[in-house]
Amino acid sequence: MIGLFDSGVGGLTVVKELVRKYPGVDFVYLGDTARYPYGNKSKETVERYAVENAKFVIDRGAKLVIVACNTASSLAMDTLRAKYPDTPFLGVIKPAAELAVADSKKSVGVVGTRATVGSGIYEEVVKELNPKLKVLQKACPLFVPLVEEGMFQDQVTKMMVRRYLMPLRQKNVESLILGCTHYPFLQPLIERFMGKKVKVINSAEAVVDKAQKMNPDLFKVSEAPKQVIAFTDTSDHLDKLASKWLKKEIRAEKAVL
Ligand code: DGL
Repeated sequence: MIGLFDSGVGGLTVVKELVRKYPGVDFVYLGDTARYPYGNKSKETVERYAVENAKFVIDRGAKLVIVACNTASSLAMDTLRAKYPDTPFLGVIKPAAELAVADSKKSVGVVGTRATVGSGIYEEVVKELNPKLKVLQKACPLFVPLVEEGMFQDQVTKMMVRRYLMPLRQKNVESLILGCTHYPFLQPLIERFMGKKVKVINSAEAVVDKAQKMNPDLFKVSEAPKQVIAFTDTSDHLDKLASKWLKKEIRAEKAVL
């Protein structure tokens, strides 16, 4: 059983990739919709939420936990590993940074929540991999609520894409890391705005590949796969959003932490 969690529907971008590659895999996904967004909260709060989320998926049998949230991956990995030393955790930062470094010679753009950008983690990891690269970052706090509302193509979303990304487009970044798992929902709009020359990076596939290498046995097809999607707050709206995204009828379980 693989565990994944995020503040809301964002981590479903990783789930989508997981089931595309391994349709028969056992997984439990938790979206902490009752307490989202995480991106404008303090490190202490994100750590506390991440520990509770990890407990939920571990109690449900997860033997490997993908932290499908950049904010928690930026702020809470040490705490998670200290709290649950027997469980391997995989964050989403390094896989994204590696893809960006492979695609850039001069500069990398990063978009993420205020907490992720403020942590400076992408700059640190990209520079470790290639110290010559310039890292240009932009926090995009309104993207997460737009995604949670399902407003993937609305006029207001297009305006925000323009407003947030214009400085990075003007600086001619060669790649753009989607440093928040909610943002792949907006990937078509972001790609259109940034233009063909910019490689837009969604780390989901790289994360799934890494997880598979960490523990290949967990990715074996089970006869009757257990695939659980749970939210800390459930609604018809969320079920519809998840169903549309995963192209499958979803009725999320209500998680009590
Ligand atoms: N999807 C999350 C991330 O990758 C969290 C966004 C939020 O809750 O603000 O950062």
